[in-house]
Amino acid sequence: MSAQRQIEPSAYYVVDLERPDDFDLWRERARALVQCGIAPDRIAWVEPGGSGDLFAGQGRSLPVPEDDTRPVRANRRFVQLAKNAALHSDPQRFALLYRLLWRLQSNPRIMEDKTDDDVRRVEELDKNVRRDSHKMHAFVRFREIEDADGEMHYVAWFEPDHHIVRANAGFFMRRFANIRWSILTPRGTLHWDGETMREGPPAQRSDAPQGDPVEDLWRSYYASIFNPARLKVGSMLSEMPKKYWKNMPEAALIPELIAGAQSREARMVEAGTLEFEDRPETLDAIDKAIHACRKCPIGSLDNRAVMGEGPHDASQGFSGLMIVGEQPGDQEDEAGRPFVGPAGQLLDRHLERAGIDRASVYVTNTVKHFKYVQRGKRRLHQSPTAKEIDTCRWWIESERAIVQPKLILAMGASAARGILGKTVSISKARGEPIALDEGSELWITAHPSYLLRLDGEAAEKQARLFDADLAAVRERLAELAS
Ligand code: URA
Repeated sequence: MSAQRQIEPSAYYVVDLERPDDFDLWRERARALVQCGIAPDRIAWVEPGGSGDLFAGQGRSLPVPEDDTRPVRANRRFVQLAKNAALHSDPQRFALLYRLLWRLQSNPRIMEDKTDDDVRRVEELDKNVRRDSHKMHAFVRFREIEDADGEMHYVAWFEPDHHIVRANAGFFMRRFANIRWSILTPRGTLHWDGETMREGPPAQRSDAPQGDPVEDLWRSYYASIFNPARLKVGSMLSEMPKKYWKNMPEAALIPELIAGAQSREARMVEAGTLEFEDRPETLDAIDKAIHACRKCPIGSLDNRAVMGEGPHDASQGFSGLMIVGEQPGDQEDEAGRPFVGPAGQLLDRHLERAGIDRASVYVTNTVKHFKYVQRGKRRLHQSPTAKEIDTCRWWIESERAIVQPKLILAMGASAARGILGKTVSISKARGEPIALDEGSELWITAHPSYLLRLDGEAAEKQARLFDADLAAVRERLAELAS
């Protein structure tokens, strides 16, 4: 801010952001300012309540670019990092993002320069914000209260370090879709009534209820998921800073659980029931975890977990598309790779026809193990139940959090449920994007196995519809990329 203070008010532009997490408005204004050639040191970015508030409403009116001005360049890596960095509490974040965007215009490869101070700082902000979100997912604890109408309502108190509350609303909506809950924080509040999400003003600790019977529920839940095999006391304390302990009923259990950890671990290894309670932070960690997963009966059949595969980063040629199927089939189970059998081969042909390079796509399944019934030597595919899909959603959500696809194509009803957490009709949902949180969107189409089961006119019709869906996805990806 000091650089801006030294110039005359008439020489700088003040951009008033409406909210401290307003990435979209920042992006819109930043594009126009870059197009008009306004250098970073002539702009003050002002967020409500921020230290630059004294600039609010001052400065020159913002310039508008000519219609034929060259579009602004911003590569995927920059946009990915910028979306998170914009949620950081650092008051300089919007200025930093603008400076990087400005520099990207003359140096499109700047994001690859790991020694550049601006690039390093934006990476650090992104990391801090992801960590804060991870903590919110892990440490929010609801207390049960009865409201004026005698209905149960679950209320949690959480203190985030950054402006992450709105960005994480979708996570809690999906996880606790069927109960009424509120999350109160000093940075704003979220209220879910089972159908709609409302946002409210910041709250105070005293607005949230203190201990009540639901704590017993959390205590026994935590004790049951506590994984002694993963116990590292030092890292546990750094992962779960004391700041959060007062909100966490299970914290009182920790000494006892540590004491019993070794014998429980031995029993779990024996019983083959190792559990994973933290969201994995890498694809490798998910791969390892799904092999040990026995949260539903499918994992106990004679099969192996099949992990998603493909690029997930621009430097690996990732197009931003994640394709999700139902579950591995017989051949996928044998090969340990998704979509290599007949359905996969049909998918490959249609992708090629649509001009989508499979090598640029992250391909995965909503259920990680092959569900079948044995008939003689043959293993016949069985559809997973809604409960099994919902149990397995933990893994696809973990993959999504790491891969961060711009666009997800869910093939078939199981895949759609795996992403949305509810059942939708393919014929009604196909062809139109469904906005997901974190700025990505979902497209739904039929499963290629369905096409394989048809013949004659019905097969031709469905193949045409499938091609049309893939073509729409390809077009939309190109739009999103530009
Ligand atoms: N069907 C799927 O849904 N996934 C695969 O990997 C193979 C067949």
